[in-house]
Amino acid sequence: MVKKLKNISPMGEKEISSNLEINIDELDISDSIKIIHSEDIIKKVFLAPAGYPIKPFDVPNPIQVSVTDNNLFQAYATEQWLGLSVKINDYIFDQLIIPDFAFKIKKIIPKNKAHRIGAETKFILIQPPIRKPKFKHISFEDIIGNEQAISKAKIIVEYLKNPEIFGEWAPKNILFHGPPGTGKTLTAKAIASAAKCAFFAKKGTSLIGNHVGDGASKIHALYNEAKSHAPAIIFIDELDSIGLSRAFQNVRGDVIEVAASLLAELDGLETSEGVITIGATNTLQLLDSGLRSRFEEEIDFPIPTEKERFDMLELFSKKIPFEIDIDFKKISKNTEGWSGRALHEKLIKISVHKAIQQELKLITTDVLMEIINQSKSNDKEQKPPSNIFT
Ligand SMILES: Nc1ncnc2c1ncn2[C@@H]1O[C@H](COP(=O)(O)OP(=O)(O)OP(=O)(O)O)[C@@H](O)[C@H]1O
Ligand SMILES: [Mg+2]
Repeated sequence: MVKKLKNISPMGEKEISSNLEINIDELDISDSIKIIHSEDIIKKVFLAPAGYPIKPFDVPNPIQVSVTDNNLFQAYATEQWLGLSVKINDYIFDQLIIPDFAFKIKKIIPKNKAHRIGAETKFILIQPPIRKPKFKHISFEDIIGNEQAISKAKIIVEYLKNPEIFGEWAPKNILFHGPPGTGKTLTAKAIASAAKCAFFAKKGTSLIGNHVGDGASKIHALYNEAKSHAPAIIFIDELDSIGLSRAFQNVRGDVIEVAASLLAELDGLETSEGVITIGATNTLQLLDSGLRSRFEEEIDFPIPTEKERFDMLELFSKKIPFEIDIDFKKISKNTEGWSGRALHEKLIKISVHKAIQQELKLITTDVLMEIINQSKSNDKEQKPPSNIFT
């Protein structure tokens, strides 16, 4: 049977009847016409950010999302997901702001029959639980020297625990600077451990996006998330990678937007919000002066003195799984210019590996001196251009 269709579009009936003929015997009506009952409509749907289905290898962390305004999110979500039929554990994808970013459906109210997203459906974005530091607990006793950093760190911990006593004098943005391996990251972790607060550690380079606008929105999302988990610390390592002096930004034009949005966030933070930014860099002199001025204090992490090297060697040696017979004085005298990391990684660690390889029963001063001399002669042989990686 052939029937002429009427009133299926704004076009005139005459026009339609001449253009469109459908054999309704071939139509599976039950398939194409769905009757929506009011009890099918979901009242509330709880969504959890689930990330992208795939990601390039060079994208280090899944992005975090948060809602800026509940009413706005409601309107936005209704517009793109209206009419979808969903069930618990389904994924629905954002199409506009973060295309292909998935949300997992965690809960639907009412529970059993409702499956369709309607105009009245309320969307609730579930925030992931507060992120506790993932590293092992680090205490201030694990840090040798760096007294200026430790006393500031203790103030920050006090503030994060009792923000009300600080009022407008709350610490806000602090800059750690110094050569590689001098304890900047270690100190930031010790603060987070002592304060037991949320800790967001990012490398500057991970905040640079692949597309225009990505970097700015990553910074914005980072600060929004930290605020929603306050009290919180944002630790931005390798700050110079995004906060280069303007004189160098022509070379790295892609970072201008990241630097600008970081400035905006640092300016916009109210002390009452309980978010502290700690920036870290090896190259203070390359930092943009505008960015630098936003940090209330610059804390220097110098190369350790002989006494500090002595104390570090003593501290690190406590964890050596072998008997030791080490003249710490001699070793500290012979390691001038070595950072804490160098002592830990290039001396003590190598000595432990040597002991395992050579089945030594005892790690002695001679074993360490041999490693030091070897390292010095390697340095002489192949001295790289200085500061190439800083
Ligand atoms: N002052 C210190 N006291 C005790 N250990 C230290 C100290 N400085 C460095 N170390 C040792 O070196 C390791 C590396 O230090 P850390 O990662 O904090 O350096 P960094 O200053 O952040 O370096 P980079 O600038 O390269 O990021 C620490 O985990 C610790 O084992
Ligand atoms: Mg570091």
